[in-house]
Amino acid sequence: MMLLSMPGVFMNTYHRLPVTFVRGEGVWLYDRAGKKYLDFSSGIAVNCLGHNYPPLVKALSDQAARLIHVCNYYQNDVSAAFAEKLVRACAGAGMRKVFFGNSGAEANEGAIKIARKYSFKKYGPGRHTIVSLRDSFHGRTITALSATGQEKFHRDFGPFTPGFTFVPRGDPEALDRALDQKTTAGFLVEAIQGESGILFQDPGYIRTAAKLCADRDILLMFDEIQCGLGRTGTFLAMESCGVKADVVTLAKGLAGGIPVGAVLAGEKAAEALQTGDHGSTFGGNALAAAAGIVVLDTVTDPAFLGEIVRKGGRLMDAVRAWNHPGVQEVRGRGLMAGIDINGESWPMLESCLAGPRGGAGPGLLILSAGLKTLRILPPYIISDEEIDQGLSLLRAALDRPQGS
Ligand SMILES: Cc1ncc(COP(=O)(O)O)c(C=O)c1O
Repeated sequence: MMLLSMPGVFMNTYHRLPVTFVRGEGVWLYDRAGKKYLDFSSGIAVNCLGHNYPPLVKALSDQAARLIHVCNYYQNDVSAAFAEKLVRACAGAGMRKVFFGNSGAEANEGAIKIARKYSFKKYGPGRHTIVSLRDSFHGRTITALSATGQEKFHRDFGPFTPGFTFVPRGDPEALDRALDQKTTAGFLVEAIQGESGILFQDPGYIRTAAKLCADRDILLMFDEIQCGLGRTGTFLAMESCGVKADVVTLAKGLAGGIPVGAVLAGEKAAEALQTGDHGSTFGGNALAAAAGIVVLDTVTDPAFLGEIVRKGGRLMDAVRAWNHPGVQEVRGRGLMAGIDINGESWPMLESCLAGPRGGAGPGLLILSAGLKTLRILPPYIISDEEIDQGLSLLRAALDRPQGS
């Protein structure tokens, strides 16, 4: 039976826009009536290779026909190959070992456990605090929320996991005070904060953080769940800061749309978790690993990464060149862009979705990040022509009075 809207049995957690997608191809999605939509959102940084990317579909179909899942009592060749490729891709950041889960929040939970276990084994109890940033986003489980420095996500859900403290972004003195050697296990930070508006960490601040962490034996942990995996033109966004990490978390695009999350650890903490310390039934199973291998083989190619930088530059330069009165600022790197607008972002999402001729022409999918920022995260496979097409849809929406 075809349903015309989301049935009422779903919990009311999402503000869903009035469109039902039935098919995707490349950077295009199609609704039930056959109307097409250009995807500048990648399912929030998930469909990094677009929709129904043929090598991904083939790898998934082949793997599904061979072996979908075996439990973690046993080994399987595909998950092992995926793990080796991922650790190799993150070796430059200092990573040596990986644990697979299913989501970003679960990856960050793993990071927090690693920091606490590392500290406990070396220093005993009491040195468990995780420091993160005031406007950060690290996920929706209770402990990932405990590390998320935004009050609006906390409301009505307390009490939270103890042992978390927040500092303002870009304030090295506050960080210096917060990273107390006697009580702190880790510092968790996004190199570029996606949910809170495409906000960059100053590389100097990150270098100071790295030195403070190294001097005090506190783990430096990068949440690369949204900004990693090539989105900014380097495999990890933190690479541009010129530091090594102790822990890195990834999820979202890691298997191009199949759920998987990963927490990686470097020399210091790679042995922190031992048998029985942690687990995840589905984490990195054969099906997810087969998809992950396709993603990694694609996004570790330097020429492919170079194209991400070039395409992102084309996109952002074009928006800046409009000098549009509705646009306040454009910032970003690679295919991760934030556009601050004068009005509110949500009506713009609706206007882009509808498209220029009141719904007949192609629509455009964009995201918001906070009240006034449009977030643009196109699939990496987007062509120059498709970027230009998306930009003209965006421009048309900016030109229309909001609400029309
Ligand atoms: C930086 C960051 N960390 C963690 C998460 C949580 O990921 P998930 O929704 O897969 O749990 C997100 C999701 O938006 C994110 O952007």
